[in-house]
Amino acid sequence: MGLQRVAIPWTEKYRPRRVSEVVGNGEAVQAFLEWVRSWSSGRPAKKAALLHGPPGTGKTSLVIAFAEENGYDLVQLNASDRRSAEDIKNLLGQAVRAASVFGRRRIVLIDEVDGLSTVADAGGVRAIASLIDRTEVPIVLVANDPWDPSLQELRSRCEMIGFRRLRAKEVLSRLEEICRREGVSVDREVLESIAERSKGDMRAAINDLQLVATSGSDPRRVLESIPNRVIELNAFELLGRIFGAHRFSEGRGTLANTDLDVDTVFTWVLDNLDQQIRDPQALHEAYKVLADADLHLRRATRLQRWELMKYGTILLSAGPGVIKATVAEKGGRFEFPARIRFMQQTKDVRTLADSILTKVTRRLHMSRAKAAVHFLPYLRLMLKAGDRGIARHFRLTEEEIGYLVSRAPELRVQPAEVRESVEERARPQAKARRAGTASGRSTGRSRA
Ligand SMILES: Nc1ncnc2c1ncn2[C@@H]1O[C@H](COP(=O)(O)OP(=O)(O)OP(=O)(O)O)[C@@H](O)[C@H]1O
Ligand SMILES: [Mg+2]
Repeated sequence: MGLQRVAIPWTEKYRPRRVSEVVGNGEAVQAFLEWVRSWSSGRPAKKAALLHGPPGTGKTSLVIAFAEENGYDLVQLNASDRRSAEDIKNLLGQAVRAASVFGRRRIVLIDEVDGLSTVADAGGVRAIASLIDRTEVPIVLVANDPWDPSLQELRSRCEMIGFRRLRAKEVLSRLEEICRREGVSVDREVLESIAERSKGDMRAAINDLQLVATSGSDPRRVLESIPNRVIELNAFELLGRIFGAHRFSEGRGTLANTDLDVDTVFTWVLDNLDQQIRDPQALHEAYKVLADADLHLRRATRLQRWELMKYGTILLSAGPGVIKATVAEKGGRFEFPARIRFMQQTKDVRTLADSILTKVTRRLHMSRAKAAVHFLPYLRLMLKAGDRGIARHFRLTEEEIGYLVSRAPELRVQPAEVRESVEERARPQAKARRAGTASGRSTGRSRA
């Protein structure tokens, strides 16, 4: 049982170091190479390239491998981590200036650009667009789904380079290569089946391979035990399935095809609903179905009655499409939900709030929802009044005390309130308030 082996993910260990190690998508790779080389023979037509396509196909890897192999410095930024226009300017403003005569050449890589596609991030999109306008070095953007209308400003400035899911044969060849280098032997049949079930996602395939090769038990058993990845849909693909399912039977199984948790899918569907279904009556119906789905999902977790889960997931995955079919509308592009973005931005704060609630409720024997509403405000007052005893009693850290003293606890954990926020969206005027509302389900799984 190679424990040390498990420690380094093979996806990292075998990340391509040279462009020739990036398998598949030959045309895209060629297009990228031509574009990046055109920089040395004067001004290219487009100063940025946007690599787009499904996960695990080598978009990020291609850029990294090219830079490593050709001695470029790579300045890398993940757009979904740091979003504000200011951040982008601060971090990259300097990087896009040409290197000195003796300096190394440089590439700027901005990954996960589709994380920027809401109104709230218009500033981020604009900042990148203006970087592209004045850059003196190649800028590469990467996205799974670059088609959101808000990314138009970027698309028009970029050489668009599309990646496709890899063929099973291509995945297989890389798996064999990894086995060879790792010095492990895995049956060809098993490798084929890993390649097949990866559905063109190399990252998924390599992860499966590592699991199989290091588990020490029968590879076929191990493979069987991994839930079948029918096709690992990303959120955009998943929404396409959900809103495109015109019959109940088409929609109901969709959620089996993703690693996203139900809460996340719910948020995506909810936030995209009013763009996908415009007819007011149909939209009303759709919100009602989602409210019902929410009710079942919440009861399932709250009462630990997991058999209720399936009612929730079925309503969520089959309801919107069936309703949409009744009005025969086309629907706009899918958008990245404002709430998920908010959750990413406030992760640190929520972690703190979460650990405070855990400590407090352990002693008080009350639900997290109750503690958040009825106890935390008093705790804050006591702490503000300098009561350190109470802090010791609950074993709060300095950081947690600081959080409580400095800001109002932003915890909303009551299921009732969550439901209201869903139903509120069913009312027409709610739409205007939509952008920026990031409450409601925002506590995710930590509810009472
Ligand atoms: N075409 C490929 N050739 C070889 N290895 C690959 C390829 N695509 C992916 N991999 C492997 O999968 C890992 C993840 O790939 P990468 O980060 O390039 O995917 P991506 O297309 O950028 O996906 P995402 O859209 O999720 O960011 C890499 O570290 C590498 O091990
Ligand atoms: Mg990537």
